[in-house]
Amino acid sequence: MQETQQRPVLNVDGLDAGYGEVQVLRDVSFELYEGELLSIIGPNGAGKTTLMRALMGIIIPDSGSIRLGETDLTTVEPNERVAQGVSLISEKRNLFRDMTVAENLKLGTYLSRDDVESSFERIYDLFPRLDERRDQKAGTLSGGEAQMLALGRGLMKRPRVLLLDEPSLGLAPLLIPELFDKITTINENGVSVVLVEQRARKALEIADRGCLLENGEITYRDDAVAMLDKQSVVEQYLGGA
Ligand SMILES: Nc1ncnc2c1ncn2[C@@H]1O[C@H](COP(=O)(O)OP(=O)(O)O)[C@@H](O)[C@H]1O
Ligand SMILES: [Mg+2]
Repeated sequence: MQETQQRPVLNVDGLDAGYGEVQVLRDVSFELYEGELLSIIGPNGAGKTTLMRALMGIIIPDSGSIRLGETDLTTVEPNERVAQGVSLISEKRNLFRDMTVAENLKLGTYLSRDDVESSFERIYDLFPRLDERRDQKAGTLSGGEAQMLALGRGLMKRPRVLLLDEPSLGLAPLLIPELFDKITTINENGVSVVLVEQRARKALEIADRGCLLENGEITYRDDAVAMLDKQSVVEQYLGGA
């Protein structure tokens, strides 16, 4: 989306974070503007998942700050961040295989004051295949459907900021265009998105802006279109994908 110049919905400033003695993120700063889709690309082990964990409050940074609008989230618990409008779809998806599609979606409304029924309708409109399978156990879904369910669950509470950690991981190549289309639709419906992907080209093709994370540091950032053209990025990260 364009017209994103105004206010940052998410403001990350000088983040250092890691695991005990192991520092992973070094001085990571970026803004996510209202309505924007920001793709963070980078190789395996660069710290992408660690960044998502810090944004969600699963790990607390050693220094730096994370703000959602005017609210300082730096040390806020994950469930409170969810209540404030941040939603993470992790690499692992964390579905309950023995529960139905509808039951898994319902878990996404935990402690919610929203109208649960209208949330169901919203998600089933976006993902008709989940509608068809609402009484089926999550464990019987295909990989693509399971990822749609994870996305749907993360959207049940109408997040302001959606954090997506490698949503295409493990999906058959045939299913990936549809996944990226859905992410675009979610963003066009007004949800600001931070997308972390090893599939760098696809991720930049649907993004407004991109950041390159290497060895825990943002080493390059630009408009997504410019980044897709940048020779050093193309050579290292956009080769075949
Ligand atoms: N729980 C953990 N404890 C210690 N080190 C970890 C842990 N999780 C990840 N790491 C290390 O942090 C670095 C970044 O990992 P990660 O954030 O998962 O990268 P990415 O998602 O970009 O592949 C790696 O060197 C990894 O080994
Ligand atoms: Mg990762």
